Amino acid sequence: KYEKIWLTIGISALVLFLTIVGVSAFAGGHAPPSAHETLDPQKVNETAPFNNPGLFKVGEKKYELVMISEAFAFTPGNVKIPKGATVTFIVTSKDVVHGFAIPHTNVNMMITPGHVNKITHTFNEVGEYLILCNEYCGIGHQAMSARIEVV
Ligand code: CUA
Repeated sequence: KYEKIWLTIGISALVLFLTIVGVSAFAGGHAPPSAHETLDPQKVNETAPFNNPGLFKVGEKKYELVMISEAFAFTPGNVKIPKGATVTFIVTSKDVVHGFAIPHTNVNMMITPGHVNKITHTFNEVGEYLILCNEYCGIGHQAMSARIEVV
């Protein structure tokens, strides 16, 4: 009798284990390391935080910049931040894979649809920074950029 119970527990554990492995492999399948939570690319406009893109102050000189990328623009396309600001970019794509790079910084990531992609950078120098799409995404790829003004 006990054997049957243990067998049942054993099989249940195995099934549970395989399910976890299967689900995590599926969910994390093609996500780059910068990608965290997942979301439905069709519902970006209705899904927090992307239902309200923009710059948010979250602490002393700390900001979160929620951005949406789609062929062929970033929203918002123009952001002003104070010198010394540490900005966490929180970005997703509504359509295809885009790039997200700020020349002369370590900011460089892939924006994959269905994922919340994050990267943090501190802007210690005043000036104008361009966010460039460095992943070919179609006919308007060359023009896909946004501007950050550090004042
Ligand atoms: Cu977006 Cu290239």
